[in-house]
Amino acid sequence: MANESRPDERNIGTVAMRWHGHSLELLDQRLLPTEEHWITSEGASGVAQCIRDMVVRGAPAIGISAAYGVALAARHAGGGDWKAEILQAIRELAESRPTAVNLFWALQRMERVFHKCHSLDEAVKRLAAEAQSIHEEDLEANFAMADHALRFMNPEKPISVLTHCNTGALATGGYGTALGVIRRLHEEKLLRRVYADETRPWLQGSRLTAWELSRDGIPVTLNADGAAAAILASGKVQWIVVGADRITANGDVANKIGTYSLAVLARHHKVGFMVVAPSSTVDMSLASGRDIPIEERDGTEVREIRGIPLAPPGVQVFNPVFDVTPAGLIDAIVTEKGIVHNPNITGMRALFG
Ligand code: MRU
Repeated sequence: MANESRPDERNIGTVAMRWHGHSLELLDQRLLPTEEHWITSEGASGVAQCIRDMVVRGAPAIGISAAYGVALAARHAGGGDWKAEILQAIRELAESRPTAVNLFWALQRMERVFHKCHSLDEAVKRLAAEAQSIHEEDLEANFAMADHALRFMNPEKPISVLTHCNTGALATGGYGTALGVIRRLHEEKLLRRVYADETRPWLQGSRLTAWELSRDGIPVTLNADGAAAAILASGKVQWIVVGADRITANGDVANKIGTYSLAVLARHHKVGFMVVAPSSTVDMSLASGRDIPIEERDGTEVREIRGIPLAPPGVQVFNPVFDVTPAGLIDAIVTEKGIVHNPNITGMRALFG
């Protein structure tokens, strides 16, 4: 299974963001796959709005963007009470979305650096450098996770996997978490096919995952979420591989709504269920998934698509955008620090303290 290509020669996929020092460009993921449009932010408020409105999404990408948002707040601070301006920017970014802990992890890291700065000049330099480190470390973590996952799966012949939501270059600093494992299988010629759940209601699977994989020549079949059970029953899939937005101390995993049902299906059909996420997604301060704040978004995301009505106007909608998969249904949590096999509090503590 040895790959001669070094990580820096790997195709990391289509990136979600471009940092220019004085501004951050974000690929508007709401318009994919039909339009590739970049939105430029010169301040933290613009970045916070992009996170809230899902211009950028995916737990690691949200954290990285927020870090750049703090760097922009320093860069464009008025010069008067620059400390108050940066702290206000951190608060505003922290309110953009509640579930992915990577956002708070990145902001805490930025705040720690901020508190060490004695002048605005120093803050401008150090906060930009820290945001870039967060970005680069995420990409490195994705390479490491893909390597760990492949060693763990150790397939003797090409396999097919099913995935949910979008966990690729668009959701991370590049390459991807679950999609990074899929890229790595493909690089090693060990991937037969990816089944991509379309991921209602926001359609991250059809609009983003199918787009990323098709662009990179990775064989993908798009399926309605409800088709997953039939695909598993057919015996075509050996592993379900997904990402995460928050992993608690007992190994419970919050991820895109619909992940929990996949884990139940996987157990029923004796298919492996793997969660791939950097350690920045682990929140050891929460005892279990019951403590995770689950974001509920506006009902229009379910009632319509791009303004086209799909339901009676004003019908009541329940739209939680994440669910919690109990640790007991997960075979492995793969992070850059290593793997927690059959996760529970002991295994999580052994890796994450
Ligand atoms: O609402 P989103 O699109 O931000 O949700 C994204 C997910 O749930 C992903 O599966 C998760 O963030 C992992 S991304 C590497």
